[in-house]
This record gives sequence, structure tokens and C-alpha cells, in this order.
Amino acid sequence: MLDLHVHLRGTMLPRKIEELADRNGLAVPTDTLQARGYGWRDFTSFLETYDRVTSVIVTARDLEEVTYDYLRFSASIGATYVEVMLSPPDLMRTGVPFEDQLSAISAARDQAFELHGIDCRMIATAVRHLGPDAALNAARIAVARRNEILVGFGLTGDERRFAVGEFREAFRIARSEGLLATAHAGEHLGAETVVEAIEKLGLSRVGHGVRAAESEAVLRQLADNRIPLEVCLSSNLALGLYHSLADHPIRKLREAGCLITLGTDDPPFFETDVAGEYSKAMEALRETGSAITYDAIGAAFCDDATKARLRSMHSPNTSG
Ligand code: HPA
Ligand code: ZN
Repeated sequence: MLDLHVHLRGTMLPRKIEELADRNGLAVPTDTLQARGYGWRDFTSFLETYDRVTSVIVTARDLEEVTYDYLRFSASIGATYVEVMLSPPDLMRTGVPFEDQLSAISAARDQAFELHGIDCRMIATAVRHLGPDAALNAARIAVARRNEILVGFGLTGDERRFAVGEFREAFRIARSEGLLATAHAGEHLGAETVVEAIEKLGLSRVGHGVRAAESEAVLRQLADNRIPLEVCLSSNLALGLYHSLADHPIRKLREAGCLITLGTDDPPFFETDVAGEYSKAMEALRETGSAITYDAIGAAFCDDATKARLRSMHSPNTSG
């Protein structure tokens, strides 16, 4: 199983949030930690809750632990590869230079790889609602400090804010240094915004992109250009994009020839994990886990040797 869309800071379980809050002298209300999904109500309140809850990560050590915990847990339920998203300026605000963030994630990856056989790469992100200047800053930091774990550049945050074209320069900088591009699109806005994001930002994958299903022309374009979608079923259901799995367009997307990969997005916020995403997808698509995994390996941003190793780990008869 591969998890290609997960916000690293969004992976923390209540236990870890409490531990880091205590260690860093911060407070997170107990009722937030005890509420389902940490108590958010809609996407705007989700983003606020996310920022509040994840602010307990302060140091490079915190980041290394959060990364390692997620990789170890994901490996324990059968994952072999994860791509995590993190915005470089987030921890720079608490005094952790980006090279130290990369070292922390690399150290967690090395330990998880050695002990649990799971691999990991990172996607540096810009946060859309913070605007194009902040995105330029994030891209410049990412390319100046990149190490081998950093393979991509992404755009997260509130899709409804700023025109996507305003982020063109940030993505040009990132791509010119060999980072592959992805961006949240076609989640809160319609099908045409998926095409616009692909064209203006030079995307190799689309974060979510599920609303492409609303346009036959967009479906055809995704299929013809073989641009994979990072589909996060539990996230889409929790945020109310679709009422039930049966209403979700994943099968329509697949039948139109789109490449489908899976992601957990912010697992405890959406009460999921990678095994949950696979089982929902297998139910909806009526495909095996290994068929889903095969496309995800092709869509991963890692090097070819890593893809070959992942392919050799996933024989056609395994479940994921
Ligand atoms: N969507 C958009 N932006 C985000 C998310 C998400 O699920 N999590 C953190 N930033
Ligand atoms: Zn996301």
C-alpha cells in the first residue's frame, strides 16, 4: 500500500499531541483532543483546527518523532511507501531551519526503512491562503536546501483563495530544480480548475481532483495525459463533498481511464489510515489492492530504483 497524499503535521494522534504540548509548554484543550476528528465542523474550521492542533510541533526532534510514528504505524498496517507534505516556513517560525527539517525527516525515514521496511519521500508545500509571495518564499527555500528525500513541490490550503495562476512563478522555480509538482485542485472548486492548475502550475499529479468527474472533457484530458489523481476518500466523505462511498465518483474516474492513487490526507482528523483508504477504494472500484498499488508506484515521485524495489515487494497476489 502507498499513501501519496498526507499532510505530515496532520498525522498526529491525540497521545502525541498531548506529549508535544507538554514538552513544549503549550496547551491543547482536552475537549478538542477527545472530539471526533478534533472537533472541526466545515473546511474553514478544519483549517483553523489543523493549525491550532499542529502548532505543538516546535523542534526538529518533534518533527522526527511525528514522522517516525506515522511511518512505523503505516508499516504496521501494511504500507510500503509514503509521501509526506510539509510547508518549509511552518517550522522556520519556531526557529528550525529547513535543512534541519529535512534532516529530521530523513533520519525518521532511515530508521523506519531499516526497522520496518517502509520508504518515504517529502513534498515541500506552499499554503494557498497565505498568498503568492509566501509561496515564492516556500519554493525558494525548498530548492535552496533540498536533499534526496525532497522530491516534490505542492500547494495546500484553501483552494477558494487566490487565482491559481498567481502561483505560477513559485512552481516554475520548484520545477526548474527538478521537483515534481502537485496541487490541491478540484476538491472545493469544479472540474475546470483541475485543468487550469495542471496547465498553469505544470502538475505531474493532482491533489484530490475528484470533481473532474463533473466534466467529460476534463476526464478525457486527465486520462489522455495520464495525470494521476491523489484520491482521499475518507477526507472527501468527512468534508461532505459526497454523502456516501456509493456517491463518490472514484469509479467513474477510473472507468474514464484516469490513474487513481490513494491518500489519507490528515488521518486522525478524518478518522482513517492507509488500510482504511485501500479497503474503501477496493469496495468502490471492485479492483484488487495490488492493481491500485501498481498505478500508485508509477505515480510516485521517487526514483526508478525505488519504484523497482516497490514493484518487487508487491507481487500481483498480495492485497496491497
Ligand atoms: N486540505 C488542504 N490543506 C490542508 C489540508 C487539507 O486536508 N491539511 C492541511 N492543509
Ligand atoms: Zn490534502
